[in-house]
Amino acid sequence: MATQTGLPLFVLGQDTDPHSEKGVDCPGELPAASDPGLVERARKAKEALGDRLFVLGHHYQRDEVIQFADVTGDSFKLAQQAAARPEAEYIVFCGVHFMAESADILTGDAQKVILPDLAAGCSMADMATFDQVEEAWEILEDAGIADTVVPVTYMNSSADIKAFCGRHGGTVCTSSNAKRALEWAFEQGEKVLFLPDQHLGRNTAVLEMGLSLEDCLVYNPHRPPSAEELRRAKIILWKGHCSVHGRFTADSVDDVRRRIPGVNVLVHPECKHEVVLKADHVGSTEYIIKKLAEAPAGSKWAVGTELNLVKRLGQMFPDKSVSFLDKTVCYCSTMNRIDLPHLVWALESLVLGEVVNQITVDADTTHWAKVALDRMLALP
Ligand code: 13P
Ligand code: SF4
Repeated sequence: MATQTGLPLFVLGQDTDPHSEKGVDCPGELPAASDPGLVERARKAKEALGDRLFVLGHHYQRDEVIQFADVTGDSFKLAQQAAARPEAEYIVFCGVHFMAESADILTGDAQKVILPDLAAGCSMADMATFDQVEEAWEILEDAGIADTVVPVTYMNSSADIKAFCGRHGGTVCTSSNAKRALEWAFEQGEKVLFLPDQHLGRNTAVLEMGLSLEDCLVYNPHRPPSAEELRRAKIILWKGHCSVHGRFTADSVDDVRRRIPGVNVLVHPECKHEVVLKADHVGSTEYIIKKLAEAPAGSKWAVGTELNLVKRLGQMFPDKSVSFLDKTVCYCSTMNRIDLPHLVWALESLVLGEVVNQITVDADTTHWAKVALDRMLALP
């Protein structure tokens, strides 16, 4: 089925879209979710694989999965950790497709990266396709400004977008280092093309770098701005967003302040600018965890990020009151694709010597994406 935007729509986990970042359906013969022995099976498989296996878990993963992670983290920490384990033969990535791609790029040729469910993609990453970004660059060339523009892509993008940034003198950033990456980019050129999350780009540029909202131009790949608008802009923000963080509104903040007097509002920078403006604190998932860990007992917090993490924070800090910023439930549906049956299936297959759902990035893309990622990892 094609949508107005030209992107096909598939029911998650079914059918195949070769142009989508998220990949395809999962081919596995999965154990039943109701199997009471799943925890024990995962534990045994992990034990059998020993040091050959390294399991990475993003903070937005389900509890049933995160309990088997050797390291948990935000996308920056997980990229660092993947690069720091050259001895592990198998890296099982409990996260989404672009994270597993980054792990494959940063690990050695002999290491195999496995994503337990290939349908665990990211709708934000899908909002910037390689062809669209190439076309945007041609438009910048026609406007006579491409050589003044440094492309910076958020980690939440496909490997070929990262490679595009590597080829064109740019870098990658995460929500933990977006300010440093933008500072670096403005040292290299006059303008930045920020992909694919307009909110992280705008929040960082305006709230942390002192740029004005007028310096920011939204680039809609379906209706590109004029050459004149592009020449005027300081930062060109790709029209992408996170469907999970994009749900929080300024009203959610007003409402929670009414419901919970004295509450501290803590949000992720993927939230809209007006939400971040109304919040008390803004930062990456690692920052959010640190902030709550340091908060005094009895303090009250409303957190605007993915619900698996917010629920876990409530369990981790029972002496503090932790609420979800919105009244409606808001999980990341693709992060949630990785469940215990998929993890058990992936691990038991490895025990049998069968590598399933391996994520591989081709050599040329790997080379240029690594150039961009290494620039990020070298940021001061
Ligand atoms: P971080 O892990 O960089 O905070 O990003 C959040 C996110 O949306 C991951 O998909
Ligand atoms: Fe993508 Fe948002 Fe889900 Fe992260 S939380 S994987 S950015 S859709």
